[in-house]
Amino acid sequence: MSGIIFAKHINITFLFVLAQVLLLLLIVLSGSGSAGRQDKNGISYIMRITKLQCIEAPYKRTHLNYCKMIQFPNGTVALNTSLTVPMLVNYAEIVAKLYYKYKTYRPFMVDWSIDYCQAARKGNLNPTAAIMMKIAENSMPDYYYPCPHGNRTYATYWTFEPSYIPTTLPSGDYRLDIYFRDSSRITMYALQMFTSIRKQGLIG
Ligand SMILES: *[C@@H]1O[C@H](CO)[C@@H](O)[C@H](O)[C@H]1NC(C)=O
Ligand SMILES: *[C@@H]1O[C@H](CO)[C@@H](O)[C@H](O)[C@H]1NC(C)=O
Ligand SMILES: *[C@@H]1O[C@H](CO)[C@@H](O)[C@H](O)[C@H]1NC(C)=O
Repeated sequence: MSGIIFAKHINITFLFVLAQVLLLLLIVLSGSGSAGRQDKNGISYIMRITKLQCIEAPYKRTHLNYCKMIQFPNGTVALNTSLTVPMLVNYAEIVAKLYYKYKTYRPFMVDWSIDYCQAARKGNLNPTAAIMMKIAENSMPDYYYPCPHGNRTYATYWTFEPSYIPTTLPSGDYRLDIYFRDSSRITMYALQMFTSIRKQGLIG
């Protein structure tokens, strides 16, 4: 009996943490944080993007024109990037993997992938796919359309402001890897984002 209760407890904790991770991803990738939030003890957590970079370039089938992180004195960071995809794309796998730094970065909670083209075609999505599509819509509104994709240049300028977030996630350093792959699993574009969550201490 207590075994079942225990399992249930773990499950709910797991779901709760997962919900937090989703929130984190949504905040990070939609570039909008809720300002000034704190928990009932007056502790708030601040999330900052510390580094943003394109990884594994040069790519085999696509051309990375540029990928630059810009840091402003007020803590805002931006990524200015442009990618040319010469071929038509009817399958695009998007993979998101989150890592948490203990001594090294270790996989943490999120290891998701979707076929963007199928998800864009299909109406009813599983919760993970729905979240990923929501993130895609928020972070790339100009490029959020059904497949075929490609045969064009994708230029984006993302900005991220430090955000106050309500969280039960551990403070520390996170890394998010995002891959876009074609049907032969060749990387078309990949992005790495380093994030820190820190306690701000007592406020008010
Ligand atoms: C920080 O500076 C950038 C660039 O000047 C600006 O676009 C952004 O709105 C500023 N953010 C805040 C919160 O003031
Ligand atoms: C992004 O970089 C390109 C190429 O260096 C540049 O022409 C463009 O003005 C930059 N965009 C912004 C918003 O800084
Ligand atoms: C690729 O884009 C060009 C210019 O936008 C267009 O004329 C052409 O029809 C496109 N090719 C395919 C195969 O869609």
